[in-house]
Amino acid sequence: MSDFKRNILVTGGAGFIGSHVVRLMVKKYHDYRIVNLDKLTYAGNLANLDDVAQSPNYCFVKADIADFEKVSSIISEYQIDGIIHLAAESHVDRSIKDPFTFARTNVMGTLSLLEAARRHWQSGDGDFAGKLFYHVSTDEVYGALELDSPEGEAPYGSELFLETTRYNPHSPYSASKASSDHFVRAYHDTYGLPVVISNCSNNYGPNQFPEKLIPLFINNICHNRPLPVYGRGENVRDWLYVEDHAEAIDLLFHNGRIGETYNIGGFNEWKNIDIVRLLVKIVDRLLGRSEGQSDSLITYVTDRAGHDLRYAIDSSKLAGELGWKPSLQFEEGLERTVRWYLDNRKWTEGVTSGDYLRYYQEMYGNR
Ligand code: NAD
Ligand code: DAU
Repeated sequence: MSDFKRNILVTGGAGFIGSHVVRLMVKKYHDYRIVNLDKLTYAGNLANLDDVAQSPNYCFVKADIADFEKVSSIISEYQIDGIIHLAAESHVDRSIKDPFTFARTNVMGTLSLLEAARRHWQSGDGDFAGKLFYHVSTDEVYGALELDSPEGEAPYGSELFLETTRYNPHSPYSASKASSDHFVRAYHDTYGLPVVISNCSNNYGPNQFPEKLIPLFINNICHNRPLPVYGRGENVRDWLYVEDHAEAIDLLFHNGRIGETYNIGGFNEWKNIDIVRLLVKIVDRLLGRSEGQSDSLITYVTDRAGHDLRYAIDSSKLAGELGWKPSLQFEEGLERTVRWYLDNRKWTEGVTSGDYLRYYQEMYGNR
């Protein structure tokens, strides 16, 4: 028997969002053992968890979620009773260049975890008492919204993604996440596996890999490199501070209704170009540069293939059922994020050097 009240497996815990989820749970639940399972791809970095690595209720296991035998043995060895599944290939541009890796990890990896959980958790009479498979997904599965000029709260369009919005993914990344969501629902509907799914909007904050818009551009401004804005910079995303997402995951893991899907978002829509201008302003100010000094770095480049125009999440269900709401205003969160990257330049250098740099140059040239 385990000494812990619960044994929770967090997959992808060395990545951006996963590391914030692991930290929150290790610090908040001393009577839970948090087992971080991660393959440590280019996006996984154990340095993200230095501050909790020695905690007695934390441990790390290096594994590939698509390795069914290994995943099964971990669930058995650590007596896992709850899974928070974040491990994924997560970058849209990479999925356009290398879709197979996305299908393997996001689809086959999720299926392998589901099947391992089902086999270990189902008792003789088919009951899954006390178990939960929590699947972390994305708003991109819903496709793209129009830009129009509505009345009301949403500044860029009248329509928002609801939990009932029909799936309509466009990129290999979102198609692979949509497929994984369908498998999770199928395991609930077919086998009775207790599941909760959440679909979240764009996250930002410390420890995000600097290939995504915000950390890439902070880093480029620091080094006076061009800021490659896709198309005309008119695309809209709905941004949420990563710690607010981690709080929502914790809340849903403990209180979400089994079999339900919950949207998570900040009611915080921004056009890319407006974020870029704001970032330039904040970074220049914090670096002591004159206002507008880095404006000329903004460079419009060829658009992303299949680029979704607008994402916007309606998270009223989560707010109504569990009282969750984002804690930070975007401008405050963005400034906090910029400060983190300026204070942790070694982290950025570490994750973008060596093998990663060679890989990146092969994929994207010298951008
Ligand atoms: P990330 O790319 O920063 O981290 C992914 C982690 O998964 C890394 O630690 C990586 O090593 C690990 N991983 C990848 N393949 C693996 C495999 N085969 N086996 C085990 N581990 C593997 O991703 P993120 O941005 O933190 O996203 C985490 C999850 O949240 C993903 O499922 C993503 O789809 C979802 N999500 C992300 C956002 C966002 O804005 N970043 C928004 C909504 C949902
Ligand atoms: O909506 C949730 C999703 O948000 C997550 O599921 C994904 O894992 C996460 O990567 C993110 O996807 P996006 O494609 O929206 O994020 P990204 O940071 O790559 O791009 C944000 C916007 O900025 C998008 O419209 C494309 C644009 N962009 C991005 C990069 C990297 C640029 O204009 N230039 C760039 O160099």
